Amino acid sequence: MLFRILPSLALLFNVTTASYAFYVGKSLTADGSVMVGGTGEEVSSHWLEIFPAKDYPPNTTLEVGVTEQASMPGRRLNISQAAHTFRYISMEYSDYEGFPAPLTNGGVNEKGVAVRDVWAQNRDDLIAMTPNPQTGLQYSDLARIVMERASSAREGVEIIGQLISEYGYADYGGNSHLIADANEGWIVWEMSGGKKLWAAERLGTDVVRVLYPGYIENFPVDFENSTNYMGSPNIVSFAVEQGWWNPNSSEPFNVWKAYGTASGNYTARDGGYKYMSQAALENATLAMAPVTEKDLIARLRDFRIADDEAGYGQVVSLHPDMDPDLIRIWVAPTGSVTAPFNPWWLGVKSVPSEYGQHRYLTADAASTFLDPDFQSQEATDFACRIFKQVLYYTCSDPDAFLPIVQDMLHGFENASFADLSWVERSAELLVQNGQREDALDLLTFYAHTRAEKALALGKTMVNALDAYIKLTGRFRGPSGKRINDPGRGAETVNCLVGWDPDQPPFLQTPMRVQT
Ligand SMILES: *[C@@H]1O[C@H](CO)[C@@H](O)[C@H](O)[C@H]1NC(C)=O
Ligand SMILES: *[C@@H]1O[C@H](CO)[C@@H](O)[C@H](O)[C@H]1NC(C)=O
Ligand SMILES: *[C@@H]1O[C@H](CO)[C@@H](O)[C@H](O)[C@H]1NC(C)=O
Ligand SMILES: *[C@@H]1O[C@H](CO)[C@@H](O)[C@H](O)[C@H]1NC(C)=O
Ligand SMILES: *[C@@H]1O[C@H](CO)[C@@H](O)[C@H](O)[C@H]1NC(C)=O
Ligand SMILES: *[C@@H]1O[C@H](CO)[C@@H](O)[C@H](O)[C@H]1NC(C)=O
Ligand SMILES: *[C@@H]1O[C@H](CO)[C@@H](O)[C@H](O)[C@H]1NC(C)=O
Repeated sequence: MLFRILPSLALLFNVTTASYAFYVGKSLTADGSVMVGGTGEEVSSHWLEIFPAKDYPPNTTLEVGVTEQASMPGRRLNISQAAHTFRYISMEYSDYEGFPAPLTNGGVNEKGVAVRDVWAQNRDDLIAMTPNPQTGLQYSDLARIVMERASSAREGVEIIGQLISEYGYADYGGNSHLIADANEGWIVWEMSGGKKLWAAERLGTDVVRVLYPGYIENFPVDFENSTNYMGSPNIVSFAVEQGWWNPNSSEPFNVWKAYGTASGNYTARDGGYKYMSQAALENATLAMAPVTEKDLIARLRDFRIADDEAGYGQVVSLHPDMDPDLIRIWVAPTGSVTAPFNPWWLGVKSVPSEYGQHRYLTADAASTFLDPDFQSQEATDFACRIFKQVLYYTCSDPDAFLPIVQDMLHGFENASFADLSWVERSAELLVQNGQREDALDLLTFYAHTRAEKALALGKTMVNALDAYIKLTGRFRGPSGKRINDPGRGAETVNCLVGWDPDQPPFLQTPMRVQT
């Protein structure tokens, strides 16, 4: 028996595109690395991109912010570009809330700093204070600049703070970033309202933090004297002025209570967003300790997390003193419930066309013709599209297909994991031998070969499912004419199995076919 989540449950919250981020402190991982995982919940097309390091002439500027087309309209502005930006790898996308493309939620840079972006809704009266037009850097600008400029997680937070202080912050109702390096993590919560408000909390070595949404709870009023907290100078005083926290009360200052959404019955950790609360996800991740990359991949692949809304999956382990070229990140080209994670290294020289930008799900694709510049690339298969096909067929009967599909993904990833030791050892030996270019060619060759094999696997899966579903009378054509989902809050395609619609989502563990 297969239960589907009730649309009414999803309607309780109005953010359906939100993104997950996972932080696992280094004393909880099997190899002592800090681990970061995440999804990007945007409808948009997503593609992989490796940005080279770059130098800029003096007085170069960089355009940031939101346009008047954004859900909360704003004005773009030019800010100073850094003299040098670092190399980084990211899943880029073309559309979110009318923000100008290309956008990023983060990735990892050559200094071993990883970033994830996650929504973190503010209270309505703060959002209502936002000037129209609003000006300042938006979430994607901040994620990108942290990757371009930060050599440590702490520096990433400081950069965000400086940029907001100088230029302001523009958003869609509150947002957060998870920034991590080989030692620690930080969560930064940037507040809506145009008041340059932000708060940041350090995440220690024995902590798992899951952001969905991002949250910070108790926060010391003398945070300026703490190495574990940072914030805008007004983060406490503004809450007092507004009557959102009374310093005379016995209640400690709590960022969630002062600035978080007051609608619904949401709490920081047990709010009942989507199918598992932050607390449930944190517990489930803690239960895996010592956590490996395979564990974090399994956590992200949980069908309560990875569905049609999860634009991609990322897992990265951050070690001290990594050779920048050998920094590795696992990326699934779309929702990892039915898509494999592939290894990429920062030293990889290019991305195969099949994993680059295509028009499927790209903003404005339906109202414009293809730019001939992209003619050849658009002629190739698109990994995101192929694995969406796997998703739609698999989730048409998850009881029957999900175990088989996921077994294949595990087998494929197991083979990649088994190759890592010889691939990385060979690259290291080449580097030690003064043959860095050869090392980069080897990493590029392996990453491309693996990505092509993944694509071939995806096509095989689609073809096999297509044949089986059609030949056994399981194919269901549409019964109406509406192909696009009516919008926020409605049910989207997922592989939920064993779901009891009468129980609150965070009390359920529908793990029947979860492996
Ligand atoms: C950069 O801008 C400053 C201030 O406007 C100006 O004095 C300087 O000449 C500029 N430098 C270059 C290389 O254009
Ligand atoms: C930013 O600078 C570029 C290049 O000078 C210019 O084309 C653009 O209009 C400027 N944008 C804004 C918002 O001022
Ligand atoms: C930080 O510590 C200094 C020195 O002890 C003190 O004067 C200052 O008031 C403290 N700041 C805050 C915000 O508590
Ligand atoms: C806190 O107590 C002080 C001293 O009694 C008083 O002046 C102040 O107005 C109180 N603040 C609030 C927010 O109630
Ligand atoms: C909050 O919870 C209470 C008690 O369960 C319920 O009556 C109320 O409808 C809930 N409010 C919202 C906005 O969901
Ligand atoms: C998470 O674990 C803590 C500590 O064991 C427990 O008190 C809490 O109820 C758990 N929460 C959820 C949602 O599982
Ligand atoms: C993949 O490897 C894990 C151990 O890391 C093992 O438990 C699992 O059975 C393997 N799965 C497949 C399909 O090879």
